[in-house]
Amino acid sequence: MEQDSVRTYRLRGSRITGPQQSALDKYWGLYGMEYSEDPIDIPGLFPAAKNVILEIGFGMGEATALIGRDFPETGFVAVEVHKPGIGKLMARIEELELKNIRIIEGDAHPILKTMIPNKSVDGIHLFFPDPWPKKRHNKRRIVNQEFLKLVHSKIKDGGFIHIATDWVPYAEWIQEVFEASPLFTGGVVERPEWRPVTRFEGQGITKDHQVNDLRYTKI
Ligand SMILES: C[S@@+](CC[C@H](N)C(=O)[O-])C[C@H]1O[C@@H](n2cnc3c(N)ncnc32)[C@H](O)[C@@H]1O
Repeated sequence: MEQDSVRTYRLRGSRITGPQQSALDKYWGLYGMEYSEDPIDIPGLFPAAKNVILEIGFGMGEATALIGRDFPETGFVAVEVHKPGIGKLMARIEELELKNIRIIEGDAHPILKTMIPNKSVDGIHLFFPDPWPKKRHNKRRIVNQEFLKLVHSKIKDGGFIHIATDWVPYAEWIQEVFEASPLFTGGVVERPEWRPVTRFEGQGITKDHQVNDLRYTKI
């Protein structure tokens, strides 16, 4: 896959556990999709779903699996570059017997551009995107004007993007980016009950490490 945008994820080793690899081997055909230049048929993936959410960067998929379990009538398209996390989420999907999650492996930028049709998702989940705290790395933050334009085109009218971050300077950055854009309206919201507590939640030990939820609606 060609990298025509700045890389927003950290490069990691390909260390994968036995159970993660075996979940990939067993369940890829059921739940996995590789990057392709063809748009996917989202209603075809989830014929009975009342709405569809796209999650960007699910990590190990802890929140994805629990939200999938709690909202069986919603279809989830979950995107991640990190193979061990994909294996882990496939194992969780099997364990919880979930029917409403599909995984795309790869960088969300080309995936959004080509695989996700315009106005095809009701909302986007972006939980704890890599904060890139060093100034010289700020350009790697996934939330920027180009990203807003891209996700705006993929969300149905009246749809939303929900972001959580545990890095206060990133929460401020996100607010600035959205406030400078005519495409969305919204801001900081209370932590919603439906978003499961993940390991990021317990870290509110310093001034800069407080969790903020931000929710923006497409204009
Ligand atoms: C800090 S982790 C958070 C993971 C998860 N959302 C959670 O709350 O535990 C950020 C994740 O986003 C993924 N990521 C970053 N940029 C991405 C991109 N452009 N496309 C797909 N995944 C991306 C990274 O690989 C990483 O797993």
